[in-house]
Amino acid sequence: MEQRFICSNLSDGPNGHLFFAGQDTVSLAEKYGTPLYLMDEDLIRAKCRLFRRCLEKYFGGHGNILYASKAASFKRIYEIMREEDMCVDVVSPGEIYTALKAGFPLEKAWFHSNNKSDEDIAFALDHGIGYFVAESFEELNAIDSAAAERGIRQKVLLRITPGIDTHTFEAVDTGKVDSKFGYAIETGQAEEFLRLALSLDNIELQGLHCHVGSQLFDSDVFIRSARIMLDFMSHVRDIYGFEAQQLNLGGGFGVPYVMSDPKPDIDKIMKETAEEIHRLCEKHRLKIPDIGFEPGRSMVADAGLTLYTVGMVKKIPGFINYVSVDGGMTDNPRFALYGAEYTVLPADRMDESRNMVCSIVGRCCESGDVIQPSVPMPEGMERGSLVAVCTTGAYNYSMASNYNRIGRPPIVMLSGGESYVAVRRENLDDMLMLDE
Ligand code: LLP
Repeated sequence: MEQRFICSNLSDGPNGHLFFAGQDTVSLAEKYGTPLYLMDEDLIRAKCRLFRRCLEKYFGGHGNILYASKAASFKRIYEIMREEDMCVDVVSPGEIYTALKAGFPLEKAWFHSNNKSDEDIAFALDHGIGYFVAESFEELNAIDSAAAERGIRQKVLLRITPGIDTHTFEAVDTGKVDSKFGYAIETGQAEEFLRLALSLDNIELQGLHCHVGSQLFDSDVFIRSARIMLDFMSHVRDIYGFEAQQLNLGGGFGVPYVMSDPKPDIDKIMKETAEEIHRLCEKHRLKIPDIGFEPGRSMVADAGLTLYTVGMVKKIPGFINYVSVDGGMTDNPRFALYGAEYTVLPADRMDESRNMVCSIVGRCCESGDVIQPSVPMPEGMERGSLVAVCTTGAYNYSMASNYNRIGRPPIVMLSGGESYVAVRRENLDDMLMLDE
């Protein structure tokens, strides 16, 4: 049967309303106002379980699934991750603090970022972070000194650049030799980095990490990364006698945003990657390390949907039609930044034919404030109509801004037919909160 919706949690309700996670989006908009981020908690939990089940099946549970919390970071999500027994990837004191306040056990957190300040390092150490993923010589030395001051040995992974071009999009390609992240094997810097780590008294080198990009739809890039990383691991074992206990292959599992996007099979990707890892470890006579995966987008993207109210429909005959909504690049900058595609639906007019092609634009004072161009919408769309943008759970709230002093929308979680506010709407006083 032809798939009608981009996400499995979308459906047509009676009276032409769009349903999300089994709930009427029109009623949710009435109850909570717009713009509004909705998140399907049950789907997020299902994703946690899917990834963990795959780890169990294909790696005998030896490894970790880290939710890359940059995709959507707020207290409730870390509570869910704690309850689902997940690990997390954090990239700033802000994310660490949010996790901490959610009662997330920080020994299950990996601290990323290509530029951790001395203050960031101290903060993470003082709150008992599990692991650092170190990205530079400077950082390793700084972690070593800070750990020495505290009389501890800190567990560290090294960010390595395997030199892979994922051919997805530039802004999220991170595994090429010229990347700002980590050190490349090809240039010899990765090996130098490892030598430094082994020489430092207060660094407990646990293993290696790589993350090559986003929107990967099959196992190809994971397999190629694993090959390069395991070759390198075998090399450093032979030269330095160092056997990595952990190999983290990063995140990047793709998510379909529009019907023409491929539908990745996470189970199949993990299975094929595992088979290759087992084969290579045998070939190199390496003990199979604990394997880490760090999914961000695929954990939350399709669990999210944004609702907006239309303010105006402007038809410029012979040129273009605009449908302007009460949010925009402030709550979803991804089209403005990357030209990202989205599926947009008329939430309160699902039963009307869509014969008006229009640009869905935001309320900000700039022409680039476009949510999505060339969207088919019903002719009858008017002020007060509701627009739903699908698959907005990842990198929307976390990349939102207060440009034009526009407050961020609330996040309402949906679970088992109920709804509740996880993050409240920013109000006018919030806009002034930092002004002296
Ligand atoms: N691990 C590391 C070290 C990463 O840098 C990232 C993403 C992930 C894991 C998670 O990748 P994911 O599974 O979400 O693809 N703002 C962009 C995406 C930036 C991704 C940055 N790093 C966007 O909106 O598409």
